[in-house]
Amino acid sequence: MKILGILGSPRLNGCCSKLLNRALEGAESAGAETGVFKLIKRDVKYCIGCGDCYTKKPNLQIGKCPIKDETQEMLKEYLTFDGYFYASPAYDGFTTALMKTFLERKIAFTFKESDKTAEIAMPAPRPGIIQHFKKKASFIVTANVADELEEVMGDPCYEAFESHLLFEQIDTFEKLFCGGLERITVEQFNKKLDKAFQMGINMVNEIKKAVLK
Ligand SMILES: Cc1cc2nc3c(=O)[nH]c(=O)nc-3n(C[C@H](O)[C@H](O)[C@H](O)COP(=O)(O)O)c2cc1C
Repeated sequence: MKILGILGSPRLNGCCSKLLNRALEGAESAGAETGVFKLIKRDVKYCIGCGDCYTKKPNLQIGKCPIKDETQEMLKEYLTFDGYFYASPAYDGFTTALMKTFLERKIAFTFKESDKTAEIAMPAPRPGIIQHFKKKASFIVTANVADELEEVMGDPCYEAFESHLLFEQIDTFEKLFCGGLERITVEQFNKKLDKAFQMGINMVNEIKKAVLK
């Protein structure tokens, strides 16, 4: 089993990265192989809105994008994993631009008929994208506001991660919000690290159960 972490923080040794690493260590302790997309280190350019990737060649698993960068390769690799940790700090009440840029490029997993008379102009998953809820995704969001404000800072991030997971039919499994970062004590942060580690273990166990069903 393979678990992928997607890091939306530009700070590779920051709190978000530490929590994500701990979650991946938890997954490894339960027998999984892990990988990480450190988005700040990757060449993921802005979507230019041409629509090529979601309106052409419906038989492809990943729509072709004219942008020359690493994204198509990363999307191919993404599909080889069984579980995902999406991790991002809250920036201006939302996920970081780094993460949002990657999420937008995942539209290449979808295809939309160009029929202008269609009542619901919703893209559909491309062949092989639907995972029938056997794959799982968990979320980590860090913020300066207190944990009590998870709904305000965490929920918009969770919703951004979930927008494509719906197409992919990947279950949202667990969420970890780590707020109050400017004043968090070592003891409090260690508790969050322990929770992250446990989330890694839980994800592996949950995927095993889903595969056996
Ligand atoms: C540009 C910017 C915008 C931010 N906006 C928010 C915000 O809206 N709400 C909040 O609670 N924290 C905000 N923060 C604080 C970050 O969430 C916090 O520094 C981050 O979660 C720490 O994670 P890191 O150690 O991985 O960088 C912001 C920080 C930056 C740099």
